[in-house]
Amino acid sequence: MKNILVTGGAGFIGANFVHYWLNKYDSDKVIVLDALTYAGNLANLEPVQGNSNFVFVQGDICDQELVEKLIQEHGIDTVVHFAAESHVDRSITGPDAFIETNILGTYSLIKAVKKCWIDEPKERGDDIIEHRFHHVSTDEVYGTLSPTDPAFKEDTAYAPNSPYSASKAASDHLVRAYHHTYGLNVTTSNCSNNYGPYHFPEKLIPLVITNILHNKSLPIYGNGMQIRDWLYVEDHAYGIDLVLNKGRVGENYNIGGNNEWANINIVKEVCKLVENEFANSTELSARFPEALAAINSDTESLITYVKDRPGHDRRYAIDATKTRDELGYEPKESFETGISKTVAWYLNNESWWQAVMDGSYQDWVEKQYS
Ligand code: NAD
Ligand code: TYD
Repeated sequence: MKNILVTGGAGFIGANFVHYWLNKYDSDKVIVLDALTYAGNLANLEPVQGNSNFVFVQGDICDQELVEKLIQEHGIDTVVHFAAESHVDRSITGPDAFIETNILGTYSLIKAVKKCWIDEPKERGDDIIEHRFHHVSTDEVYGTLSPTDPAFKEDTAYAPNSPYSASKAASDHLVRAYHHTYGLNVTTSNCSNNYGPYHFPEKLIPLVITNILHNKSLPIYGNGMQIRDWLYVEDHAYGIDLVLNKGRVGENYNIGGNNEWANINIVKEVCKLVENEFANSTELSARFPEALAAINSDTESLITYVKDRPGHDRRYAIDATKTRDELGYEPKESFETGISKTVAWYLNNESWWQAVMDGSYQDWVEKQYS
């Protein structure tokens, strides 16, 4: 039985992880610590709100005292650290928040766990708590690949190119150093691009779905030939589960979908799937009348090439051989089923995405795409 502190559990991947975990390990206790920034949303945790093994705490990972209190109060033995600023474009227009949360926040968090678990360990029953700090990182720390380069491995040298990936790389290094220097039991996973339910609509896939429904243009940065390796979010949670239960302390594990797509092709694929959903449902036409003009002629006509992202990484690809060989990891969801489920989820959960597209989101869209 574990008592897990999940930071950033009201965000996209954190919330999916909490659902996964409580569903699979129904005796474990999950405490979510989340600051509820623009990307955090209590509605993402609605399905577990009535669960007596679930507690939500609104707070900042930079608040070391609060984290120490939560570790002691709930007998936390495991931390899974998702909390971060996660959007590359926002890191370009405003890097400060990324330095604050991703670097200083992670530093504050590992200081708290070191104090509670190593400097002043408490006993739980007769046992000294066996602890684990799992750090959730990204493939973006490895930098960029050409179309023919071999995929990133765990020993690929770090070469981050955006303020986002640089801040994540810095946090990975701090976590590594706390293992080597102080003996903190850490693991790190570096995962490729996730997609699925509760994905904030500023990111490519949900942006495209919601823009089609509003009859808005689908912005493609540059020539659209940048490649990402897409993984269904539940398979990320499954990978972290394997790392927590079978991974070796002090190791990094790559998690990926083995599923590379050029941006332009993934946007076209989403257009096709939305068209199919409308073709099979008169109810959708009634609910989203704005969308019909494009969908009834050619949804792809909404595609608009816009100015490229500065420093845009050409390609990410994950070689997850180590995670497969050591932990038996294989994604369970095919891209075909995962992307269909995702499109259907957005069509069936309009109230969720309408609620998050509030004033501050509109301001961002205005600034980013004007
Ligand atoms: P997200 O932006 O959807 O969610 C981040 C969550 O962290 C939000 O709930 C937010 O409120 C919370 N948060 C932010 N600052 C905080 C602070 N100072 N204190 C407490 N909570 C805070 O992000 P996501 O896409 O779910 O990503 C989660 C993690 O996974 C991040 O560490 C990210 O780097 C990593 N990751 C993401 C992807 C991806 O494709 N989205 C891929 C690989 C790795
Ligand atoms: P994104 O979802 O922001 O993830 P990341 O930058 O972490 O990979 O973007 C995925 C890809 O889609 C990336 O190459 C940038 C591109 N993109 C667009 O072309 N247009 C957009 O409006 C957005 C948000 C992203």
